[in-house]
Amino acid sequence: MTSSRSRRAARLGGAALAAALLTATQATTALAAPGNPGEPRYSAGAPSLGDPYFPDQGNGGYDVRHYDVTFTYDPATKVMDATTVITAVATQDLDRFDLDFRGPQITSLKVGKHPAAYRRDGQELVVTPRPKLKTGEAFTVTVTYAGTPPVVTDPDGSIEGWVPTDDGAFVPGEPQGAPAWLPANDSPADKATFTFRATVPEGVTVVGNGRLVSTTTANGKTTFVWDSAEPMATYLATVTLGNFVVNETTTPGGIPVYTAVDPRLVTQSAAAVARIPDILDYFSSIFGPYPFNQAGAVIDRAPDVGYALESQTKPIFSSAPGVGTMAHELAHQWYGDSVSVGKWSDIWLNEGFATYATWLWTEHTGGATAQQTFNGSGNYGRAATSSFWQIVTADPGPEDMFGNVPYNRGAMTLHALRGKIGDAAFFTLIKDWASRQRYGNASTADFIRAAEEVSGMDLKAFFDVWLFQKGKPVSW
Ligand code: ARG
Ligand code: ZN
Repeated sequence: MTSSRSRRAARLGGAALAAALLTATQATTALAAPGNPGEPRYSAGAPSLGDPYFPDQGNGGYDVRHYDVTFTYDPATKVMDATTVITAVATQDLDRFDLDFRGPQITSLKVGKHPAAYRRDGQELVVTPRPKLKTGEAFTVTVTYAGTPPVVTDPDGSIEGWVPTDDGAFVPGEPQGAPAWLPANDSPADKATFTFRATVPEGVTVVGNGRLVSTTTANGKTTFVWDSAEPMATYLATVTLGNFVVNETTTPGGIPVYTAVDPRLVTQSAAAVARIPDILDYFSSIFGPYPFNQAGAVIDRAPDVGYALESQTKPIFSSAPGVGTMAHELAHQWYGDSVSVGKWSDIWLNEGFATYATWLWTEHTGGATAQQTFNGSGNYGRAATSSFWQIVTADPGPEDMFGNVPYNRGAMTLHALRGKIGDAAFFTLIKDWASRQRYGNASTADFIRAAEEVSGMDLKAFFDVWLFQKGKPVSW
C-alpha cells in the first residue's frame, strides 16, 4: 500500500537516482526499439528505496497490499517451515524485482502460478517473473522456506529479527528485522495488511498483530490465526511466541485489550498492565481515537534484547516494563504505527512523540509536570558541553537513531513548540497530525508545515534550532 504521502516519502536521494537511471535505460530502449506508444517497457524494479540509513532496504517497481504468512515453528528445534504469499501491484512494467529476505533456505518460489527464477544476494531476493508483469497488474509471490530464521544485529549493536527465548521466540523488527522471517518490501513507506497462521506445539501461545481470528488444536499442535486489518509497516510485524498468561478486557472507552505475559513476569509487570486501559483512554482524549481495532501488550523474557518495541496493536516487551515504558509503547500506536516515518532520519517523529506522551501521562497522573521533566537533568538541564547536544535531532544517524537525542531532544522540541504556539494550537496540531496522517507516512517537513498552518506562525527559525542544528538551544 503506497499512499500519495508514502510516495512522497519514498522520493529519497537514492530512489530519485534509481528512477533517473531507470528513465535513462527506458529512453535507450525506446531508441533501439521504437514500439507503439502504450506498449510495455520492461525493466528491473529498483533494488532499494534509497534510505541512506539502510541502503538495502525496500525495493521499487511494486506496491505490496497484503502478506499472508503461514508457518510451523518448534521452539525445541528452532526450525520454521513457512510459506509466505505476497499480494502486490506492479507500479512499472517489470521483468525483474527484488524482495528483502534474510531468512532460511528457499525451497520454492512462484509468481502467480508459475515457478520463477530467483537468486539471493545479501538481503536481496532477486526474482525474475515469467510472464513479465505490466504496470497496474496485481500479482502474488509465493515463497516457501525452511530452517532457523536469523538474529539480526543493528548499527547500535542491539539485536532483532527472530530471537529464540527459553520457551519460544521474541520477534522485534525495527528497523530491519522483519526479513529475518518473511520475504518483504522492508520499508516503512510500503504498508500492507497481514495475516499470520502459526502452528506451534500445544501449550505454546503465538501473539501476532491485530485480531485473533481462530485457535485450533489437533494432534498436539495449535494453529493461531491473527489478522492485521489496518495497514502496517513491516518493521511492526510480530509473531512473538512462548508460554503466556493471556487476558482480555475492554477499556472504559471501548478499546479491546489483549495481553500476554510470561508467567514468570506476571507479578513484576502487574502495575504496568493494570494501567493499560487508563493510558489508552487518556491518550485517546488528547491524540484522538485509538487508530486500530485491537490493543494490547506482550511481556516476554528476552534478556539479550533489552528494549521494547511498539509492534502494531501489541507492543512487545523483553522484560517486565514500568508504567512509563508501557505508556511510551502505547503512544507509538498513534505516532509511529498509524502515522509512520517514510525515512529513518525522521525517527524523532516516532520517538520524540512517544517520549513526550509519557511526560504528559506522568503529569496527568500527578507526577512531575511536563515543564519539570523538560528542565530535568536528562533533558534541558544537561550542560551545554554535553555530547548530547552534538547529535542532530532530525538526522541522528543509524547508530544513534534509538539513542537519547531523538527521544529526549525530540520530546523537548515538542514541549518548546507548545510554549511557542500555545496549548490550544499545540494540542490541535498533534490531534490533527494523527487524524490527517492516519495510516500514512509523514516527514519532518510535513510536520513543520502542519505546525505553521495551525499556529499561523513562521516557525522556520524555531525548528532550525531544535531539529537541524547542533548545540544546546538558548533562544527559540
Ligand atoms: N522503537 C523502540 C522504542 O523506543 C525501540 C527500538 C529499538 N531498536 C533497536 N534496534 N535498537 O519503543
Ligand atoms: Zn519508542
